Amino acid sequence: MTGPLAGKVVAITGASRGIGLAIAAGAAQAGARVALLARDTARLSAAAKEIGDAARAIPADISDPSAVRAAFAAIDQEFGRLDVLVNNAAVAWPHTVADATDEQLHAEVGTNLLAPLYTIRAAIPLLRRSGGGDIINVSTESVTNPFPHLLVYAATKAALETLSAGLIHELSADGIRVTILRAGRTEGGELRLRWDEQARLRAEADWDALGYRARVSGSAGQPPERVADAVVFVASRPQGTMIDVINVRAHS
Ligand SMILES: NC(=O)c1ccc[n+]([C@@H]2O[C@H](COP(=O)([O-])OP(=O)(O)OC[C@H]3O[C@@H](n4cnc5c(N)ncnc54)[C@H](OP(=O)(O)O)[C@@H]3O)[C@@H](O)[C@H]2O)c1
Repeated sequence: MTGPLAGKVVAITGASRGIGLAIAAGAAQAGARVALLARDTARLSAAAKEIGDAARAIPADISDPSAVRAAFAAIDQEFGRLDVLVNNAAVAWPHTVADATDEQLHAEVGTNLLAPLYTIRAAIPLLRRSGGGDIINVSTESVTNPFPHLLVYAATKAALETLSAGLIHELSADGIRVTILRAGRTEGGELRLRWDEQARLRAEADWDALGYRARVSGSAGQPPERVADAVVFVASRPQGTMIDVINVRAHS
């Protein structure tokens, strides 16, 4: 394969749909071989098939540290190397902190913060063996504008950003770069489709009462391919250059 990522292996979490699938397809188009991680095996296999020979489905619940160890062992066995890790998988539900269920809190912190810690920890030895590489952590504009009812989601992403900023120093001697990729509203994902209708209506009523939706009006959704383009751009920078933070949003 030719392209800016030719010869590289890219692992993407949450690659069965939405932004993660667009990143996997974009990286493959740029010449990389890609490891797709998510839980729904059938959907993940369909996504890998859609991308073609460059893609392998590696089913895993990344909130489970043992499953992450097994997944990265499978990546090593399948590809023999790793050059880029994209932490994209996340979950979010509308709820106030007062009303949050134990399950919601565990899933949000487990998927959005603990899981990237597990994947980064598992990826570091493989990235070191490749002589360095990239860790790209997908965040959200919500970290600077934390919507009520989505505070736990925003807080997990803010923690992921703090982790990324510190990791830059922890991993620089290994030639491993760490980038925060902040996305604006993006089409194609299903993050919001799984929301309980009543919880969504309660959240929207509060957003309107507090003027939150007006504050972000005009921010149209962008196609997920724009986020994929940014990942390819970041991962194809020459050694000696690094991008700490990149904001990708629609311009309206
Ligand atoms: N969409 C937006 O407007 C927007 C804006 C800013 C930032 N973002 C960020 O972009 C990323 C992707 O968003 P999206 O809209 O594309 O979301 P999405 O359509 O809901 O996709 C989420 C992906 O994560 C996977 N996933 C969830 N929990 C997992 C787990 N425990 N283990 C493994 N995989 C898991 C899902 O597959 P399974 O359910 O099969 O596991 C799916 O592939 C997220 O980090 C989100 O915060 C999105």
